[in-house]
Amino acid sequence: MLHGLNGKSVVVTGGAGVIGSAVSRRLAAEGARVVVADLDADAARKIAELIGGDAVGVGVDITTPAGAEASVDAAVQAFGRLDLFHANAGVECMVRTVTDFDVADYHRVFGVNVLGAFLSAQAAVRRLTAQGDGGSILFTASIAALMGTGGTSIYNASKHAVHGLARCLALEVAGSGIRVNTLAPGVVESRMMDSLGAGLGALAGVDEAAFKGGMKRAVPLGRYATPEEIAATAAWILSDEVPYLHGEVLTVGGGIAPY
Ligand SMILES: NC(=O)c1ccc[n+]([C@@H]2O[C@H](COP(=O)([O-])OP(=O)(O)OC[C@H]3O[C@@H](n4cnc5c(N)ncnc54)[C@H](O)[C@@H]3O)[C@@H](O)[C@H]2O)c1
Repeated sequence: MLHGLNGKSVVVTGGAGVIGSAVSRRLAAEGARVVVADLDADAARKIAELIGGDAVGVGVDITTPAGAEASVDAAVQAFGRLDLFHANAGVECMVRTVTDFDVADYHRVFGVNVLGAFLSAQAAVRRLTAQGDGGSILFTASIAALMGTGGTSIYNASKHAVHGLARCLALEVAGSGIRVNTLAPGVVESRMMDSLGAGLGALAGVDEAAFKGGMKRAVPLGRYATPEEIAATAAWILSDEVPYLHGEVLTVGGGIAPY
């Protein structure tokens, strides 16, 4: 068992998605009390039901201040307090060159990935600061926060912004005992990666299977990550196993060198 998760109250945004549900399951298995917070309320409740115990599923839209606050309120209502917050909700962009992108896709992606992460951070920090006994906040960025990829500029730019937000927040809240870190997954077996892979393959003139094969060969470990592997790392960062880990971005990419 990871030290410092048992009994902790945690919110996972995007908790009904591929990575978020794996994180929610892992944290619950470590004894944490989990709020699965997602735009898809039915899916969030279903994941919470499957987890069992005192897990709670709530529908929230993190692109509004009220929605982000509602995710924290759900933890306070269910468990009396907030200890840990995983700002994980995110969306992929369409695959287009910079000149072909439309502004609507920019606003859609930045609305969830950047504004949503920002409002989530505000809500979590306000609660943790009011409680006065620290906490741990984790953002899911992406390896795209550290590198360029032709065709996904809006997504990469949004994840660079998440990384920048986390670095600033880490400096602001260090004195309150609130740790802030960023997880940067590489390629994960998931709907999102399939969607991006289909688009990137089309841009390169190959089908999705050929793109995925090429992508796997580019990963030194030779495969995509499982959601559970990402969840294990997220739980470790959020836990008390690594109390000196602060203001860091941790790449979990099977050996891909992002720079
Ligand atoms: N899948 C990958 O390969 C990969 C790689 C690197 C980083 N990431 C990042 O990991 C995170 C999770 O990705 P995933 O693969 O699980 O995607 P996913 O699409 O399976 O899950 C994302 C979840 O976020 C929710 N969501 C979307 N908008 C929301 C909003 N406004 N308010 C609340 N919830 C909202 C969705 O309903 C969905 O359940 C994202 O931030 C993504 O950018 C994914």
